[in-house]
Amino acid sequence: MKPIILFQVLVLLVSNCYSQKAPVSIIPQPVSLETTAGKFRLGQNTVIQINSDNDELRRVAAYLSAKLSGPTGYLMPVKIVKLFSKNNIHLTLSGGNKGIKEGYELNVTASGVSLTADSGAGLFYGVQTLIQLLPAEIESKKKISNLSWTIPGVKIKDYPRFGWRGILFDVTRHFFSKKEVKDFIDHMAKYKFNLLHLHLSDDQGWRLQIKSLPKLTEVGAWRPERKGKWNNTGKPSANEPKSYGGFYTQDDMLEIIKYAGDRFITILPEFDVPGHSLAALASYPSLSCTTDSTYAVNVGETIANWHSDGPIALLDNTLCPANEQVYTFLETVFTEVAALFPAEYIHIGGDECLKTFWKNNPAILALMKREGLKDMDEVQSYFIKRVANILKSKGKKLVGWDEILEGGLPPEATVMSWRGMKGGIQAANAGHQVVMSPEDFVYCDKNQGEWTAEPASSGMVRLKKTYSFEPVPNGIDEKLILGAQGNLWTEQIQNMRAAQYMLWPRGLAIAECVWSPKKSKNWPDFVRRVEHEFTRMDIGEIKYAKSMYDPMFRPAMEGDLVKLTLDTEVSNLKVHYSYDGSFPDNYYPEYTRPLIIPKDVNDVILVTYRNGKQMGKLIKMPVAELRTRIK
Ligand code: ACM
Repeated sequence: MKPIILFQVLVLLVSNCYSQKAPVSIIPQPVSLETTAGKFRLGQNTVIQINSDNDELRRVAAYLSAKLSGPTGYLMPVKIVKLFSKNNIHLTLSGGNKGIKEGYELNVTASGVSLTADSGAGLFYGVQTLIQLLPAEIESKKKISNLSWTIPGVKIKDYPRFGWRGILFDVTRHFFSKKEVKDFIDHMAKYKFNLLHLHLSDDQGWRLQIKSLPKLTEVGAWRPERKGKWNNTGKPSANEPKSYGGFYTQDDMLEIIKYAGDRFITILPEFDVPGHSLAALASYPSLSCTTDSTYAVNVGETIANWHSDGPIALLDNTLCPANEQVYTFLETVFTEVAALFPAEYIHIGGDECLKTFWKNNPAILALMKREGLKDMDEVQSYFIKRVANILKSKGKKLVGWDEILEGGLPPEATVMSWRGMKGGIQAANAGHQVVMSPEDFVYCDKNQGEWTAEPASSGMVRLKKTYSFEPVPNGIDEKLILGAQGNLWTEQIQNMRAAQYMLWPRGLAIAECVWSPKKSKNWPDFVRRVEHEFTRMDIGEIKYAKSMYDPMFRPAMEGDLVKLTLDTEVSNLKVHYSYDGSFPDNYYPEYTRPLIIPKDVNDVILVTYRNGKQMGKLIKMPVAELRTRIK
């Protein structure tokens, strides 16, 4: 063999080996994934072939065609065929013969792509996996020229661990338009979530048109605008214009439901009662026990003092359980809601009900006497049971936050456990179905890293903590755990970019916790795949947090000086720091062991690098702040 040919053969061998070994990155991690030799290349003439005229099959194929044709510039037509032909993408709805709900099988070889599923949902999830196998540029909003659109050879069998894979989006504290909600749905769909919980009423806004109760949106959807930090906002002045807010008409909501349904996502509506109801009370004040109050939609100012032994309300934000008008009101609301939403469940909130004003209220005391209710928890429970009956009469199931356990709950109620896992454990032990949503693992409104370097929020949940979330507690029957969801409350989130920053990459960790087998958890491999996804998000113009690259600060005293230990949750990082107020780069001193911060230093400024590339944020930490953190 001539040396030049030998060289070419060697290059080919090496590149083949490399391409076979290059790990593929899919989030959530599939149940089984085998990489195989060869790769398939999309081309100008690639066709998406489907095996029947089934409506869901056509819809999924059209979705794939639209997704691929934009960035590639290829036509990607969808064709119904009797026999599949080589060098194309084949989608098959297999007619239920495999029996794996929402599952799919995907085979990619040099001669084509074959995706088979029992259901439209399974096909859709297979399509998401296929898209993730393509180069990151497939996320581009523009056409990309001169790129080889190859898909590595794989054999994948996949199905979800849980049937409830949700994200809550709070559209009350800040309002997000119909277009923004659709974008949110598009991002969720990529990671095989199947439920969007829309929090549609709270003290700060009522967000859905109820045709028989027009004031809910004429009054309850609007408030004076505030831009600053939540809970620090000034009280509205008399006659201040109510310029901030918005709501979805029922037609808007039907459009959202359809858009989500086309992506196999169910919209779960939440109307939070009996607490969190100021927007409803501003619209219809007679629904309160305290009708002498002047109600207004809250702009973000404090309405309660939170003590460890329970909150004290500064004003009454509850619907009155002793007022029959309230049940007529809820009957009206839920009649329209039940007719609008195809979801099996309606979420009735039930959390953080401030009962301060119930305690001495004559109507409540009379109700307690009449119904034999011994305390305020039982008053709330009486209310929840009546709401459950209303929902039952509309053919809907009730789900509520774990406070609905207090005072007893209707047997058919499903509990969403947010104050840790304990409510979920208690509910499951009593035979109730449970959705796990513990704030210490999956609350996406909390900080992702060091406080001083993150947007304002309450509490902290690092990515690694979210990834460690296991929805089924030891000793609990897995069948009672319907699944789990992450919650994106928006008190401190005023726009979509900020929402994305808080949700990603924690949403990726949640997706993996609810889809992938428990035994496949692997933090270093997850980080590798998250980093791959970051590239795709950059190209897709999606904001995300890089907080996993920032260290956490662990100060202690060493004599009179502060000793600072830094903890990183991602490997292969170098931390560089300064003491002199200048901004460090990778030529500054490297952190290799705990720092003893010299006397008179005001701030430690640091940043993380990997292979000469800045990875984390520049963080300026006042030494005085470190001293306050030492117990
Ligand atoms: C909640 O976070 N109050 C459910």
